[in-house]
Amino acid sequence: MDQKTILITGCSSGIGYAVAKGLKSRGYRVFATARRSEDVETLSAEGFESFQLDLADSASIQHAVHAVLDRTGGTLYALFNNGAYGQPGAVEDLSRDTLRAQFETNLFGTVELTNLLIPIMRKQREGRIIQNSSLLGLVAMPYRGAYIASKFALEGLTHTLRMELRGSGIEVSLIEPGPILSKFRDNSYKMYQHYIQPDQSVHKTTYLAMEKRLLTKGAAVPFTLPSEAVLPKVIHALESTSPKAQYYVTFPTYLFATLRRLLSAKWLDAVTRRFI
Ligand SMILES: NC(=O)c1ccc[n+]([C@@H]2O[C@H](COP(=O)([O-])OP(=O)(O)OC[C@H]3O[C@@H](n4cnc5c(N)ncnc54)[C@H](OP(=O)(O)O)[C@@H]3O)[C@@H](O)[C@H]2O)c1
Repeated sequence: MDQKTILITGCSSGIGYAVAKGLKSRGYRVFATARRSEDVETLSAEGFESFQLDLADSASIQHAVHAVLDRTGGTLYALFNNGAYGQPGAVEDLSRDTLRAQFETNLFGTVELTNLLIPIMRKQREGRIIQNSSLLGLVAMPYRGAYIASKFALEGLTHTLRMELRGSGIEVSLIEPGPILSKFRDNSYKMYQHYIQPDQSVHKTTYLAMEKRLLTKGAAVPFTLPSEAVLPKVIHALESTSPKAQYYVTFPTYLFATLRRLLSAKWLDAVTRRFI
């Protein structure tokens, strides 16, 4: 393959958009996908090859994969599984539907897409699969249970996949961002409004504090980095002959990854339970 190709999910904003832009200017052929048609139009107007891909919809995933493979003649070097959202809410306030919706996008759609592309990469005897996980795929914090469960599950599947693909020429890496400036909080707030009824919850008072955090514009959390901070790690995962299994982004990721090794679960709780 001369020009390296990559399919990226969730390019309407934030990390997906920043990585799509950065890789395009580095010479990659980027298939920048987005959930909504209006974002596909915007991305196309900016010169991206863009397709609609909604991770919650199998038909949409299959359609996007066919569209991309049609254009490349059946090859694809890399996949950056980036699209996801954060569902806020205490665990006891999560309905089965709320949890299912979180997993449909963050896990099931991501795995379905990946599994459609693995045979292509196996045939090529090369490929890169990069999963955008999270610091919250490494440690738990309160009121984020659905999201954390989806990212812990993604971590488990990805570590397994990496072992199963050993020797195939396909390398698998996890990116573990901490706080990144993007539309993530805005989008989380929308899902909170959609699925959680604070007035009916014993957590009502805590939700008020949480709402304040979600509605804060800019860097609400110390050590927040711009979306572009993820790009160098993705480039390493794509271009190194020996990509890492995990890439940490932001100081909090390094800190909590270390703390979880040093502290017992109860002492780790004492630190992380402060993050409402
Ligand atoms: N921001 C952070 O602090 C942070 C920290 C750690 C990890 N991450 C991870 O980084 C990734 C990108 O998030 P971000 O920070 O860039 O937030 P963002 O600006 O909200 O971007 C999320 C992207 O995912 C897309 N998405 C949501 N549901 C989707 C679906 N069903 N199908 C396809 N795409 C979907 C969104 O599309 P719409 O615009 O259509 O909703 C958007 O393009 C996520 O995996 C997130 O978990 C973020």
